[in-house]
Amino acid sequence: MVHRSGGTRDASAPPDAPDRHSPPRSFVEQANVTDDSIYETFDEEWPDCWRRAASLLSWDRPYETVLEDDDAPFYRWFTGGTLNASYNCLDRHLEAGRKNHAAIRWEGKHGETKTYTYRDLYVRVNELAAALRGLGVEGDDVVTIYLPMIPELPIAMLACARIGAPHSVVFAGLSADALATRMDAAESEYLITCDGYYRRGNAFNQKSKVDNALLSLEQDVTTAVVDRLGDDLPHVLAETEFDYDELVGEYRGETVEPVSRDAEDMLFLMYTSGTTGRPKGVVHTTGGYLAYVAWTTRTVFDVEPADTYWCAADIGWITGHSYIVYGPLALGTTTVMYEGTPDYPDRDRLWEIVDRNAVDVFYTAPTAVRAFMKWGKEYPEKHDLSSLRLLGSVGEPINPKAWEWYHEHIGGGECPIVDTWWQTETGGVTVSTLPGIGDMKPGAAGPPLPGIVTRVVDADGNEVDPGESGYLTLTRPWPGMARTLYDGGDRFLDEYWRRFSDPDAGEWVYESGDAARVDEDGYVTLLGRVDDVINVSGHRLSTMEIESAVAAVTGVAEAAVVGRSSGPGGTEVYAYVSTERDADPEAEIRAAIEANIEESIGRLARPESIVFTPELPKTRSGKIMRRLLEDVSNDEELGDTSALRNPEIVGEIQEAIRDEETGDR
Ligand code: WTA
Repeated sequence: MVHRSGGTRDASAPPDAPDRHSPPRSFVEQANVTDDSIYETFDEEWPDCWRRAASLLSWDRPYETVLEDDDAPFYRWFTGGTLNASYNCLDRHLEAGRKNHAAIRWEGKHGETKTYTYRDLYVRVNELAAALRGLGVEGDDVVTIYLPMIPELPIAMLACARIGAPHSVVFAGLSADALATRMDAAESEYLITCDGYYRRGNAFNQKSKVDNALLSLEQDVTTAVVDRLGDDLPHVLAETEFDYDELVGEYRGETVEPVSRDAEDMLFLMYTSGTTGRPKGVVHTTGGYLAYVAWTTRTVFDVEPADTYWCAADIGWITGHSYIVYGPLALGTTTVMYEGTPDYPDRDRLWEIVDRNAVDVFYTAPTAVRAFMKWGKEYPEKHDLSSLRLLGSVGEPINPKAWEWYHEHIGGGECPIVDTWWQTETGGVTVSTLPGIGDMKPGAAGPPLPGIVTRVVDADGNEVDPGESGYLTLTRPWPGMARTLYDGGDRFLDEYWRRFSDPDAGEWVYESGDAARVDEDGYVTLLGRVDDVINVSGHRLSTMEIESAVAAVTGVAEAAVVGRSSGPGGTEVYAYVSTERDADPEAEIRAAIEANIEESIGRLARPESIVFTPELPKTRSGKIMRRLLEDVSNDEELGDTSALRNPEIVGEIQEAIRDEETGDR
């Protein structure tokens, strides 16, 4: 039996429970993929099958080899080929006579809207590309982008891609420390950010976070600052800081030749939480990544250029990179980008946007669906959602009840739902039904996509029987996979490949870090993380990283952080803290812990509960028993506690949790 991390354990459907849903005929009739022989074809023709993905792109020089595996697991895809990602997302659509087709429909927080045609976007991207060159950015310089959901964010990504400079987007809600750590790790000397943004109607100062981050960096950084807030937040610029509009204004109307990149050249870096406190810089490439996201946007999200497609994620995470920016724009479709939250100014905000833009395909996370459910069906009912033909889910398991609600109240009972399992490291969707082919089973993501092979294994790497839980692995490479970690190939091997591979036999097995089980039909049900990563409202957080932020607070002797289930599919952060003898009062330490987590990671990592205990449960060898804390937090039956040096502490902790929950502290 595999250990499952808190929060997702009751999210999976019982094996026999889910009702199957077949895709409606109306959907199948128009779907991009409807022939189930695609699974067999991909199997037989692997790896050549991936030529189909590559053929969705325009190559400057054709590739020679589909897959090179002599240096596995450092696989190389479409080698010999060259291309430019920004050309593929912009120029070629202009050349195809689609210059006035909407590329981005931006919905601002306060009801402002902006539409960028492919031509508009092309102009903006070129001007910024010229400006970046003017600042001295060259191919292979990592440009950090620290922006909220404003149009300048995808413009900046594409401008970097145009000149061959990898981007590293840092989610705008992360802290100054988090920004500094990432810029330091990537030795990034260029930053595109903004003065601030609106958070629930208030002006929030982003620039001051940036100032703090830059103070701690050794390298000199050149910064472009978007003026998002105007007079609502005046700011001053230092000598190495440029006002974005003024800067770009100097390059009005200029164009930049897209730089031809090798298929294997880095397109971007994306930092994500790992099992240690240090974030991992996941490296994605120009050819394989772009081909894979274009392919999955077409096959899984059934997108056609004429569609209006909305992925309601943040571009600061991989979901937004792949399915707001690169996938949809590579296909030449219209992608919606929303700056705000689902409940501001009211709880029907998303449905109003779907209605007004006649959105065809909508993609969100289960945490959002659970919120919609809680708010009630009257909000979607206020609007005409009949334009929708397909819905998607990502980030956590979606429990059958939420699935059915989404299906009925958002999809009107007529839209298939793709429950897409993937990760920052996989680049794009790897497990999901194909919406025009497979039956859906609420609670189970589906079979692996054509060309992808999943295997659920026990701790020794042996495949388990259907219905048994185990570690989810991928046994065949795919074009969208991460190539390495920016911190080095060794860490890449350690994190993903060492555990289940047999290098002597030439067998490389990718370890996902998730637990899963597979049913008789090959459908994969996800059961949550098996490592020290937790998933809080779709944000991937490392418990170790939060733990170090807690432990750093003066007066804290020891800390352990675990995930606790907050209902089906939801997870919240629980911190257990023991204090030093002469420490400040608990209330002060509590406040200091919250402040430090906010400062070193971001608000999103703030614990739901901080539980003070005289001691943490420990093994005889002195290791903190986090598993036990997780069981205690989740009100689970406690397993064997005989390994504990201090078993008496368990009762005290249970009592402390009760006090914490009743506010009796
Ligand atoms: C979880 C987001 C269940 C999983 C694309 C994975 C899911 C982690 C699903 C990656 C799903 C993602 N069902 N769990 N459909 N999709 N996950 O890197 O634990 O931010 O390992 O990528 O999210 O999170 P990341």
